[in-house]
Amino acid sequence: MTNEWWRSAVIYQVYPRSFADASGDGVGDLAGITSRLDHLRDLGIDVVWLSPFMTSPQKDAGYDVSDYRDVDPLFGTLDDFDALIARAHGLDLRVIVDLVPNHSSDQHPWFQEALASEPGSAARGRYMFREGDGDQPPNNWQSVFGGPAWTRVADGQWYLHLFDASQPDFDWSNDEVRADFRTTLRFWLDRGADGFRVDVAHGLVKADGLPDYTPPEDADSMGGAEPVPYWGQDGVHDVYREWHAVLGEYEGDRVLCAEAWMPTVGEIAKWVRPDEMHQAFNFSYLMSEWDADGLRGVIDDSLAAFGAVGAPSTWVLSNHDVIRHATRLALGDESPQGHGIGPTSLGIPDTAFALRRGNAATAVMLALPGSAYIYQGEELGLPEVIDIPDDARQDPTWFRTNGERYGRDGCRVPIPWSAASPAFGFSETGASWLPQPDSWAAYARDAQAGIDGSTLELYRALLRLRRERGLGKGGLEWLESPAGTLSFRNGDVTVLANVSADPVDLPAGRVLAASGPLPDGRLPSDTTVWVG
Ligand code: GLC
Repeated sequence: MTNEWWRSAVIYQVYPRSFADASGDGVGDLAGITSRLDHLRDLGIDVVWLSPFMTSPQKDAGYDVSDYRDVDPLFGTLDDFDALIARAHGLDLRVIVDLVPNHSSDQHPWFQEALASEPGSAARGRYMFREGDGDQPPNNWQSVFGGPAWTRVADGQWYLHLFDASQPDFDWSNDEVRADFRTTLRFWLDRGADGFRVDVAHGLVKADGLPDYTPPEDADSMGGAEPVPYWGQDGVHDVYREWHAVLGEYEGDRVLCAEAWMPTVGEIAKWVRPDEMHQAFNFSYLMSEWDADGLRGVIDDSLAAFGAVGAPSTWVLSNHDVIRHATRLALGDESPQGHGIGPTSLGIPDTAFALRRGNAATAVMLALPGSAYIYQGEELGLPEVIDIPDDARQDPTWFRTNGERYGRDGCRVPIPWSAASPAFGFSETGASWLPQPDSWAAYARDAQAGIDGSTLELYRALLRLRRERGLGKGGLEWLESPAGTLSFRNGDVTVLANVSADPVDLPAGRVLAASGPLPDGRLPSDTTVWVG
């Protein structure tokens, strides 16, 4: 029997190195996660997605895997993974594992074997080795992290890496690569994983002949205008059809979720056709600004595009690659969203103002039908950390652009659990792989628990209501509302979000939840209310 739980699930992203550190070395680990799963149960989520914890030299925070079927000692052991799954399932939480198929680490035995082998050998055939053009690389492609997408090896050949030079791209026309990933899927499914979040799910297949490509000036590095010879090639879909069949061999509705940064929801929806993946991140929603017409447009487009292929829409505002939405939605135009922000960035908003907007956006998202993603720490209202010292930064983007782009460290700072403990309870020893701002005592979970009006209690209330009222399985009906506001009904809940500058009247009915205070019984700017 299948209940298709993923159609309405709330999925919480754990970024293992920054969640909870049981070993005390300053990097979070699996045992730390297991010990705090009850907090997630208490928050009211359904599923935990674990960012990569497999064996890795950690050049890109684990998105550079050298053994797909083991746990990196930094995060623990396979036994720790089994214990995590057992505890999660005991709490009625599902667990999704992050899988990175576009590229491996350069320390993967296959890449080491390729380096030690001749051009044209079977070992080189698992990756994208090519001859250059004289002293020039085979084509003009640029890495997502900046700089050329090709690196030359000792015998003169070049290998492709859409990301860091330490992340060589696999050749997905190679049967051995395909077979090995099916083995990896089974390995984690056999251990009880409920599915996979698939990294760079739009990148695996490259256009024949690897033609030159120059992105338009304003293109997002992970998406760009179409057609791009390394994103969204038709052949990627065959891979997921194979994987869909593998998951189908298992009991209990296992799922695949695509990280496919494509320019429109219509494009993204191709990844969730009935015989492919089950979910795809809705990056169009994540990228939309705090603007009533724009939001209404992207919500309509999403429901239509995903609905047309029989898939649920997903909703997401934050993850480990973007500026936290409690900062981002109030950023000035001067700071492009894609490059991260730091001490020299302009237009950094006031923290309280930005959080208020962020919480209003969350209260819209959690009322929408479909499946929603939450990124660790957003339930605490964490802002992006802006003042990380240069010498503490770790994102390859920072290094590959010589500090021109700050990158993603600001959303990856270890999260605060208790205001008065070393490292705010992240690690007993006080160690933390990225420095935590002093101001984070006020955001600690224990400083917010049970406090009326805290972000944590807002998330708990919204998630409880979402579950009780079946909003994830519901439908959306737009309601008329004053200019600059957004209003819809889902089941018996009416939502009004004030995206305008002036207060408006509350809808009739009992207030079930509000993302901020309601002075004089009216709905102020940057506030969302649920009435029912
Ligand atoms: C995905 C991940 C990101 C990583 C990249 C390369 O976009 O979310 O963190 O750097 O892929 O694997």
